[in-house]
Amino acid sequence: MANSMKDEIKTFYGGIAKQVSETSKGSCCSGGSCCCDCGTDSNLYSAEYIADLPVEAINASLGCANPVALANLQKGEIVLDLGSGGGIDVLISAKFVGDSGKAYGLDMTDEMLELANRNKEKSGATNVEFIKGYIEDIPLPDEVVDVITSNCVINLSESKESALKEAYRVLKKGGRLAIADIVEMKDVPDDIRQSVQLWVGCISGALSISDYERILKEVGFTGIEITPVNIYTKDMIKNIAEAENLNDLYAKLDENAVDGAFAGAHVKAYK
Ligand SMILES: C[S@@+](CC[C@H](N)C(=O)[O-])C[C@H]1O[C@@H](n2cnc3c(N)ncnc32)[C@H](O)[C@@H]1O
Repeated sequence: MANSMKDEIKTFYGGIAKQVSETSKGSCCSGGSCCCDCGTDSNLYSAEYIADLPVEAINASLGCANPVALANLQKGEIVLDLGSGGGIDVLISAKFVGDSGKAYGLDMTDEMLELANRNKEKSGATNVEFIKGYIEDIPLPDEVVDVITSNCVINLSESKESALKEAYRVLKKGGRLAIADIVEMKDVPDDIRQSVQLWVGCISGALSISDYERILKEVGFTGIEITPVNIYTKDMIKNIAEAENLNDLYAKLDENAVDGAFAGAHVKAYK
């Protein structure tokens, strides 16, 4: 592989951000990319969450569930979204924590940060800040955050343990993790796990539920709950492959092996 996985991921998501920015109607899903069914066409976010958000922020959604629904955010809290993309979950969180709170979004891709900042301007939010950096090396001090959210990002990390350690470090004592992520529901063949394209498309980098729990425990989290909420059928994976022009790759896969092998899950835990 010529580039590192991080470079592949940056290029991939940078391209999506540009595409969303350039076409007012185009959504991440119509561009083909996500681990999900996203934006206004989906049931990821009920109306109460997205009612007053800029349409560009909704169209930029690349998540696999709604992490804010898990977070039980309170006025005045500080929330950090890991891999914030176009900013949808940050802008939703900002409404819940109010002016006395703050919502940070962290992302490594310049084009995504630019898109997120434009969406922030359009939303009029004043308690939002997007910062550039890696989830494996969060540019914030220890114990400053009440809640960590993330949506379909930890699965992309080549060092999930580092990312979860960093999440633990920046959380205040008693703070909570409220994540939506892809998990692996059964053993998948090596050709799927090794596919860079399926990795950057969020599929092949997923942890099993037991590995996820083990890493969270090792890092120090307690009260861990991992609940699959959206199990991917072979047809859903085929649709993702088609949207990403990966038909040839999909044709080589054993359909029965991919059927039900991945799910969007809610991950909750406490420091
Ligand atoms: C699947 S998109 C999800 C975006 C957003 N959470 C959402 O729900 O729309 C993944 C995002 O994570 C970012 N990302 C991936 N790996 C990252 C890393 N190691 N550090 C920081 N950002 C990362 C990408 O740039 C991209 O914006």
